Amino acid sequence: MKVLVIGPGGREHAIVRSLLADPNVSEVHAAPGNAGISKLVPTHAIDANDPDAVAALATKLTVDLVVVGPEAPLASGVSDAVRAAGIPVFGPGKAAAQLEASKAFAKEVMAEAGVPTAMARVAGNAEEAADALDIFGAPYVVKDDGLAAGKGVVVTNNRDEALAHAQSCFDAGGTVVIEEFLDGPEVSVFVLCDGRNTVALSPAQDFKRIFDNDEGPNTGGMGAYTPLEWAPEGLVQEVLDRVAQPTVNQMAHRGTPFVGVLFVGLALTSRGTRVIEFNVRFGDPETQAVLARLKTPLGGLLMAAARGELDKVQPLRWSKESAVAVVVAAENYPGTPRTGDRIRGLKKVEKIEGVHVIHAGTRLDAEGKVVSAGGRVLAVVALGTDLVEARERAYDGVELVQLEGSQFRTDIGGKAARGEIKVATPGAPAATKAKA
Ligand code: AMP
Ligand code: GLY
Repeated sequence: MKVLVIGPGGREHAIVRSLLADPNVSEVHAAPGNAGISKLVPTHAIDANDPDAVAALATKLTVDLVVVGPEAPLASGVSDAVRAAGIPVFGPGKAAAQLEASKAFAKEVMAEAGVPTAMARVAGNAEEAADALDIFGAPYVVKDDGLAAGKGVVVTNNRDEALAHAQSCFDAGGTVVIEEFLDGPEVSVFVLCDGRNTVALSPAQDFKRIFDNDEGPNTGGMGAYTPLEWAPEGLVQEVLDRVAQPTVNQMAHRGTPFVGVLFVGLALTSRGTRVIEFNVRFGDPETQAVLARLKTPLGGLLMAAARGELDKVQPLRWSKESAVAVVVAAENYPGTPRTGDRIRGLKKVEKIEGVHVIHAGTRLDAEGKVVSAGGRVLAVVALGTDLVEARERAYDGVELVQLEGSQFRTDIGGKAARGEIKVATPGAPAATKAKA
């Protein structure tokens, strides 16, 4: 099978790497790719957000499957164009991609499907925003109602800051969704969908804020680990039964079937499991960690989803090891990142047992050297017999990466490795409900 992977980031590098390990995948191409991807497979410099350009490339390459990585091409209809060209595609069409592209749309579908999520109001001006903030109280949660690469959400105790974020979204011509605050640990669950059937991958945890201890502004994600030893038994089944399957059924009922990965962002709150958000693609950097553990060949799985045949797939096989991905970001990320700097030390990193490097914002300069080209530059991914060992290996690797001004979080998977994450049992009093 010949596969074309669309996208420029770490998620796509991880997908390409896993596809190359699938014995039934004979050839992989990527567009546009990055420096890491171009070392593995041929890359094609097209505009990945242009549906016609992607469909034309897929046709020219006579690929059997197109895998669309990021949200932007999905929201612009790349999958529709590829499907119309008669090529199977893993990724929802434009209409179904609204589950991520519009938070208000996602809330509507969740309500129709009876999916548990935060109470929310849509606001289009300062007065409506102020009313909504006061209904829910602090901490305030204000979300830009559009694609914002994970950076459009402000969670704050400061009412003025919440109002200011809403105002900046209104000034840009948008609306906001204001929500009740959800307490409790967050979990990312990726559910493969074929329009009808659902198959869940192993849950992961992401670290959204830029600084240790979840401080500072939101980013696209600074690191991830999997599996979650502390997660309640039955969590994945609950996500399938109460969230993913009802959503897939509802999307089919609406005439916009969902094919691809439904990324369910959850909070395990004291009142039960709640959806924080839907995304319509694999998470980044969770994918880097999750795919490192997946033993079932990825190409066959994504093809089964694209063809509506997930019901024929055997139960997934996973490595018993833990995986950790630590993102190395450029100076000033998540603001305007510093770019164009040489990155050194990557070969040494990959000499560590169980460790590999996944590129995100990188490119090759005129001399063929790897230089930084984005906010999240790369991730060091490590497998280990447990989370403690995987973390040690990942951070040993991160220490060897040389990039002027770069930053990383030192606490990816730290609390979990120390057994410090508590999940509340809904209904139990706060002091006694913790589970080690
Ligand atoms: P989103 O783009 O909706 O995933 O939001 C980004 C991040 O903001 C989430 O991963 C959470 O950390 C935080 N967040 C979003 N919604 C809520 C909420 N209702 N309560 C608490 N935190 C939230
Ligand atoms: N890491 C979260 C995301 O991909 O949106």
